[in-house]
Amino acid sequence: MLTGGGDCPGLNAVIRAVVRASDAEGWDCVAVREGWRGLVEGLFEDLSPQRVSGILPRGGTIIGTSRTNPFKLDGGVEKVLQNFSDRGIDALVAIGGEDTLGVAARLFREHGFPVVGVPKTIDNDLSGTDYTFGFDTAVTIATEAIDRLHTTAESHNRVMVVEVMGRHAGWIAVMSGIAGGADVILIPEQPMTVEKACEELRRRHARGKSFSIVVVSEGYELSYESGESQLVAGEARATDQFGHVVLGGVGEALGREIEQRTGYETRVTVLGHVQRGGSPTPRDRVLATRFGLKAAELAHKGDFGKMAALRGDDIVAVPLDEATAELKLVTPEWYDVARAFFG
Ligand code: F6P
Repeated sequence: MLTGGGDCPGLNAVIRAVVRASDAEGWDCVAVREGWRGLVEGLFEDLSPQRVSGILPRGGTIIGTSRTNPFKLDGGVEKVLQNFSDRGIDALVAIGGEDTLGVAARLFREHGFPVVGVPKTIDNDLSGTDYTFGFDTAVTIATEAIDRLHTTAESHNRVMVVEVMGRHAGWIAVMSGIAGGADVILIPEQPMTVEKACEELRRRHARGKSFSIVVVSEGYELSYESGESQLVAGEARATDQFGHVVLGGVGEALGREIEQRTGYETRVTVLGHVQRGGSPTPRDRVLATRFGLKAAELAHKGDFGKMAALRGDDIVAVPLDEATAELKLVTPEWYDVARAFFG
């Protein structure tokens, strides 16, 4: 198995489940180290039940990860196929988000590669599954941060802007904002204008509240009534091998705008990779474990080109193509729930 893309809490729980279920059926497991880079470069490690003992509550991934895309490397795909067959592996469990699973889907489609997928990402933006593991932990961390910012905001009569991750999807912002009682939540899918956000804050202050919490998703574009919008991204606007711009910084820009336009003293907190670190919540451990068992079952049966997914309370198998066709974005209905508490 391999883990690819940004790490997230629960990866080790999947690894443990796949190894334990496979061992019980008489299969040996091998780790491909550091995502797709490991298959391009032939980086393998045997994974025994002893090796995965005690990793259930541990964050990160014991087998490493990377954002390597073999389709972007000269001869990358040929090396993947060669190393895989040289090592004598029967099936690959690819644990990742849209990028990692997008590579898996393409390898299956174009080369009949024997792969099954497990949906991982704190962003919760994968179609085909109700939830990805890692998301609940990220939302828990962000909610706790919002709770803490509330008390200091109130003491100082300040506006606190909290920037959370999520890339093009505002799920972490919406869920942690609802759970933490945010006064304004800004997301990429439905970009409320800066003017409107300031109006909500003034309305709240007019009601006698002297502090406010604003949650902004990193992919939100600063939007104005004039129709202009601006994506604030990492300084050099660097992109990874999957073409994603490195995001971050919109919180600072928004905080400046709010302070200038309203005159309310404003501070900004960027949660960053804290949202991805540390131990998974019980819910993520359980979901990751169930996904791992399903992926092992699919791999043992030779039912390739599928991904383990959560539908309602059931774990099912969905085609990888379906899961990676488009991103799952925040729906208007969900944003309405958040908006009911603005201002
Ligand atoms: O996809 C997960 C994620 O944490 C996004 O929310 C974020 O934009 C990105 O990864 C950060 O990537 P990196 O770890 O490469 O800085």
